Amino acid sequence: MATQAPAKSPYDRLGGIDTLRRITDRFYDLMDADPAYAELRAMHAPDLAPMRESLPGFLSGWSGGPRDWFEAHPGKCMMSMHKPFPITRETATQWADCMSRAIADVSPEDSEIAAGLSEVLGQMAKGMART
Ligand code: HEM
Repeated sequence: MATQAPAKSPYDRLGGIDTLRRITDRFYDLMDADPAYAELRAMHAPDLAPMRESLPGFLSGWSGGPRDWFEAHPGKCMMSMHKPFPITRETATQWADCMSRAIADVSPEDSEIAAGLSEVLGQMAKGMART
């Protein structure tokens, strides 16, 4: 009987940490530069460097890659972590649009998993809106 190769994780299909870092950098570059995201940008600290470090770590463990970020933040939940922020439908949509542009710009080779990433992160962001 032929043995099947184990299914690749979303992390591997995306291209690993290098792709996640490139998506994150493009995301914060766009957030910083495009006035369409001004309200979202204003919610963040002036220095985005800690976010550029943190987001790829979260995305890595979340997509089936190395879990260092989760080990460094035991029990941290992305949804509850965002509760203190006054997230509206408008700012959540800015987040989702900005992320989907960043993913499209980086253009991971596996377009199916790239589209899935964009869709799921957009849904998560919109699920954080409380007004
Ligand atoms: C899938 C959706 C999202 C993910 C994966 C995500 C991810 C993250 C991560 C990893 C951090 C840093 C946490 C830390 O290092 O302690 C963070 C912080 C933050 N996020 Fe999100 N986020 C999402 C959606 C949103 C949305 C929709 C908003 C606002 C509309 C938002 C606003 C913020 C703010 C204001 C901070 C703190 C930034 C700072 O201290 O400068 N996030 N987020």
